[in-house]
Amino acid sequence: MSSPAGGNSSARPIAIIGGTGPAGSGLGLRWARAGESIIIGSRDAKRAEEAASKTRQKAGVNANVSGMENADACAAADILVLTVPFESQAGILKQLKASITEGSILIDATVPLAASVGGRPSRPLGVWQGSAAQQAAELVPKGVSVVAAFHNVSAELLNGDDPLDCDVIVCSDDPDAAQLTRELAAKISGVRPVDGGKLENARIVEQITALLIGMNIRHKGHAGIRITGLPPNAYR
Ligand SMILES: NC(=O)c1ccc[n+]([C@@H]2O[C@H](COP(=O)([O-])OP(=O)(O)OC[C@H]3O[C@@H](n4cnc5c(N)ncnc54)[C@H](OP(=O)(O)O)[C@@H]3O)[C@@H](O)[C@H]2O)c1
Repeated sequence: MSSPAGGNSSARPIAIIGGTGPAGSGLGLRWARAGESIIIGSRDAKRAEEAASKTRQKAGVNANVSGMENADACAAADILVLTVPFESQAGILKQLKASITEGSILIDATVPLAASVGGRPSRPLGVWQGSAAQQAAELVPKGVSVVAAFHNVSAELLNGDDPLDCDVIVCSDDPDAAQLTRELAAKISGVRPVDGGKLENARIVEQITALLIGMNIRHKGHAGIRITGLPPNAYR
């Protein structure tokens, strides 16, 4: 499947649903610094604007960052990034369905962790569809492509100033949407995008995060991943 929303991202705003949390705000900060136009989405417009204001302060005077209630953010963009806790992913997608326009791409960073049901954050949660990203693909309107990405990047590091030391594995059934997402990943200093194949592979990538969280707890760090040994075109 090829998406009309594929192609270059520049000049197209990126709406981050749940963008007030550390993962969404960190991605927004890095992309704002790279010159992308960012809309921070929240259930509360005031909270969205406060988060946008903080991002503008960190990213510099020329940063193009605004804040909106999630539904307005979806309606204003065709590149959507979903950064909400797993337990709210299905509910928010159902709520926003009418506001997501056909041809949009939804980049899902949701990690299904056992913490969502009172368990440990270092254990993944089984999802009937195979992964949080595949659950999202069932819930978006027709004509919307889902891409899984950014699960293994530390939000704390994203919110800092230093280059990251992490690869971003991108999985999707839509090659154009995957390409656009890899281009966005490459705009984060220190990040290499890696073509991770079809959306069904998201289950593996999501589960790696549980392993990384366990390592972070044990060793008090901010673990990332690197995929080695592939030819250069795998990292574009
Ligand atoms: N933290 C990381 O290092 C990291 C890295 C990679 C991926 N992830 C994944 O990215 C997602 C977000 O992570 P996070 O740490 O930023 O999470 P978070 O702070 O717990 O939540 C992010 C935002 O989601 C919104 N939200 C919370 N409950 C909601 C609900 N019931 N319905 C709708 N929206 C709700 C909130 O925004 P409003 O209250 O403003 O609406 C909140 O600021 C998670 O799935 C996580 O597994 C996290």
